[in-house]
Amino acid sequence: MGNNLGFESTDTFLVEERVFSPSSDTVENANIMQYMKSKGFTDYDAFHKWSLEHRFEYWDDLAKELHWFEPWQTTFEWTTKPFFKWFSGGKFNPVYNCLDRYMETPTRHKVAFYWEGDDGSTRTLTYEDLYVLTNRFAKGLQNVGVQKGDRVAIYMPAIPEQIAAVLAVARLGAIHTVVFGGFAASALRDRIIDSQVKVVITADGNYRGGKHIELKKITDEAVAETPTVEKVVVVKRLGTNVAMTAGRDVFLDDLLADVPADTVVPCEPMDSEDILYILYTSGSTGKPKGVVHTVGGYSVGVYATTKFVFDIKESDIFWCTADVGWVTGHSYIIYGPLMNGATGVLFEGTPTYPAPDRFWSIVERFKVTIIYTSPTAIRGLMRFGEEWPAKHDLSSLRLLGTVGEPINPEAWMWYRKNIGHDKLPIMDTWWQTETGSIMISPTPIMPLKPGSATKPLPTIDTDVVDKNGVTVGSERGGFLIVRHPWPSLMRTIYGDPARYQTYWDTIPDVYFAGDAATIDKDGYLRIQGRVDDVIKVSGHRLGSMEIESSLVSHPAVAEVAAIGKPDELKGEHVKVFVILKNGFEPSDELAKELKLHVRATVGPLAVPDELEFTPSLPKTRSGKIMRRVIRAKELGQPVGDTSTLDG
Ligand code: PRX
Repeated sequence: MGNNLGFESTDTFLVEERVFSPSSDTVENANIMQYMKSKGFTDYDAFHKWSLEHRFEYWDDLAKELHWFEPWQTTFEWTTKPFFKWFSGGKFNPVYNCLDRYMETPTRHKVAFYWEGDDGSTRTLTYEDLYVLTNRFAKGLQNVGVQKGDRVAIYMPAIPEQIAAVLAVARLGAIHTVVFGGFAASALRDRIIDSQVKVVITADGNYRGGKHIELKKITDEAVAETPTVEKVVVVKRLGTNVAMTAGRDVFLDDLLADVPADTVVPCEPMDSEDILYILYTSGSTGKPKGVVHTVGGYSVGVYATTKFVFDIKESDIFWCTADVGWVTGHSYIIYGPLMNGATGVLFEGTPTYPAPDRFWSIVERFKVTIIYTSPTAIRGLMRFGEEWPAKHDLSSLRLLGTVGEPINPEAWMWYRKNIGHDKLPIMDTWWQTETGSIMISPTPIMPLKPGSATKPLPTIDTDVVDKNGVTVGSERGGFLIVRHPWPSLMRTIYGDPARYQTYWDTIPDVYFAGDAATIDKDGYLRIQGRVDDVIKVSGHRLGSMEIESSLVSHPAVAEVAAIGKPDELKGEHVKVFVILKNGFEPSDELAKELKLHVRATVGPLAVPDELEFTPSLPKTRSGKIMRRVIRAKELGQPVGDTSTLDG
């Protein structure tokens, strides 16, 4: 990231300066207000200032609301900067906090998940049902050799068994690495190889937007080249005939045939700093990074943010529309809501199938009270018109959320008016795979400005600085940084601690993960997007180099540059510039073939919308392609300093 800080202060945002204040009821009843009052505050800014000086007290308070097998001795320590620990000495398992502790309380019989399949089928699981399924699943995994510390890959659709798989792995103290079901075989293979996965859990296939996706076939292709994989556990979702490799593959049904319903596999008491999971995300190189989250700190972080940002109450029905394959699903479908004893919704399908009111029909039928979705989904549904949400009774909703990319004020206003009865608060939450939980976001007590994620959460010490770390202040804009570790921050990049260190080295001694932001006179932050080589397509994170590596693996391609271009619907889309090898001629057919090649090697989400054949690309004297210059030219912006350019 070091030399990619190409942010220009001319990249300003159009700001719609309107403020929406919360109702006094909402403020009075908010979970965060209860906590603030317990510390003697009713004003958020004053409370936040206190929290920066009392961060350990704050996190101790929140951690104490969870069950620890043994309490921690030290709340925080820098081991060797920038490496650190939270809650050392503590023994903990998030699954105990998600399930076991409710078995003696009325929550046992509460609904943990309403599930709806793409095909309209439904299932309802109480906390007890999920507890039983998780325990049996854990036993099955033990029976195929899964032990504490082993890596288990989960490549599954959004079905209840996916949640149980995650919880079963964590229960055993093994490490899950969930791979989004939209990734292609080679992307799955690379992730399995990087974390030396022992067991893969997949499904025969799934439905998405009415189509069948053959997950088992993709898994077979991936696993053919991964020597560490000993077993593949297959959940039947479609009931189709799939090839099963003898000795390696086993259906979950068969694995659990002799495992009784009252089986209990006790939660492994993990050290607070043991690894809970690895989740791969894109960075500035072709190789995805395995972001490492730990048992104690991560859990406390997602528990606290679910409680304060989404303001979870006993009666809430919380629907996070993300996929479990992304960090949002880990934190706000599984761990956060379950640790808060909430009822969740899990949906396998897409917002527009069979019709563009699918989301609103789910909200109505399950009486969803809180919905958390992406700006891309909102913009997409907005295009179909107000009549689609208007067909449904959305009066159960009381709080809205967005995540993953900046939300433009127009989409914000549409969301509030059509989904939020013209009055509901919108939590625009900024965070990252690396941060583990929400960092900058309103809570329900905050006055809102469309397009602003407002202010940092308690103890989170953000600033907007120049490349030397000096505060730039006001609306000028600069790099968004965080000053001190918080519990749910990643601990390292799996197998590559040096790559973790770059987050703290790029701007001296602060956490910087690649976003630009502005801050207004009231301290409200507006996140403007990435300043590194990460492209955000529909809120999904893609690395320029990942797409480029995919394309150069095609026999016709000599060199490639991939950039992100602003897109009204998706936030950004991918454009690639391709130099062909001698003997190949540009053609529409070849362009199509190259796009299919990206689809087959990375996945549908990475397919470029635009592909341009070009004879040359601007490079530095050392031969590095200058994407920043290409992007500026493409967007008609000033090219900036080109003194290191060729010729
Ligand atoms: O650029 C920011 C953008 O998403 C990036 C993190 O992507 P990922 O790790 O995939 O996590 C997405 C879900 C947490 C950030 O660096 N981003 C995320 N939330 C927002 C956002 N940009 C603007 N506003 C947000 N609320």
